[in-house]
Amino acid sequence: MNSLKLIDGKAASARVLQQVRVDVAALVLQGIQPVLAVILVGEDPASQVYVRNKILRAEEAGIHSLEYRLPADAGQAEVLDLIARLNADASVNGILLQLPLPAHIEETRALQAIAPGKDVDGFHSENVGGLSQGRRVLTPCTPSGCMQLLTDTLGDLTGKHAVVIGRSNIVGKPMAALLLQAHCSVTVVHSRSSNAQELCRQADIVVAAVGRPRMIDASWLKEGCVVIDVGINRIEENGRSRLVGDVDFDSALPIVSAITPVPGGVGPMTIAFLMKNTVTAAVQQAQAQRSLSEAPCLSTY
Ligand code: GUN
Repeated sequence: MNSLKLIDGKAASARVLQQVRVDVAALVLQGIQPVLAVILVGEDPASQVYVRNKILRAEEAGIHSLEYRLPADAGQAEVLDLIARLNADASVNGILLQLPLPAHIEETRALQAIAPGKDVDGFHSENVGGLSQGRRVLTPCTPSGCMQLLTDTLGDLTGKHAVVIGRSNIVGKPMAALLLQAHCSVTVVHSRSSNAQELCRQADIVVAAVGRPRMIDASWLKEGCVVIDVGINRIEENGRSRLVGDVDFDSALPIVSAITPVPGGVGPMTIAFLMKNTVTAAVQQAQAQRSLSEAPCLSTY
């Protein structure tokens, strides 16, 4: 395998987390301890793994975490009450409500209940709107991680044609907004597009976020394009369970100039940017509380 073409998400996420650790240490010296609250409703096995990993990474970065596990039959009011308590608790900087929620809980209502300044997922409409207007708001973690990988690989993205495959609220739509902000020409294709493959073949940058194992093969790709594979699909193959992306990696590799593997590509970046968002939220809350002269001095927030 041509490892020069591999975009190493583990190494990139380690760099982000190292910066987060440095920033947290600086904040703690100024009397600010970043705190992330994670809420898990029900026992979805994948969500349990994700939540455990988020809490572990937070502790490693020096961020305190609070874990709230509610039973699968918890009512909407119980979830909203918990969010209201965490909103009102000044010691909590970030609130993450793990998705998916059990079907009887209205996802939009629960996400909208999180105070926008503590919405470290960037899913609140205030943050979604702010992103589309180019305001400095908390931004969804997976697309932010993809942007970091793209700028690490390509530098300035100005003028590139980016095709985003998938239009979810969590990845596709915010990804398109971030690429536009970085001065790309952006095309979003989806299950109802009549010419998705043809459009994708014109792309300098392909971001695949459809949740369909190995859907994108070499026939979708232009020679020399950069591919970011957001998909994490568990499949059974040769009697073995394994994770594959939305891109057929072996088919794509000879065509692309760079590609993220699955696992070890985008996955680790999501958690790293969750930690970065938690620090950003902590800094912004401290700045709102203190006068400018006393505000914590971290240049990047
Ligand atoms: N479930 C899958 N991805 C995500 C994510 O980015 N944030 C939350 N809260 N839940 C998820």
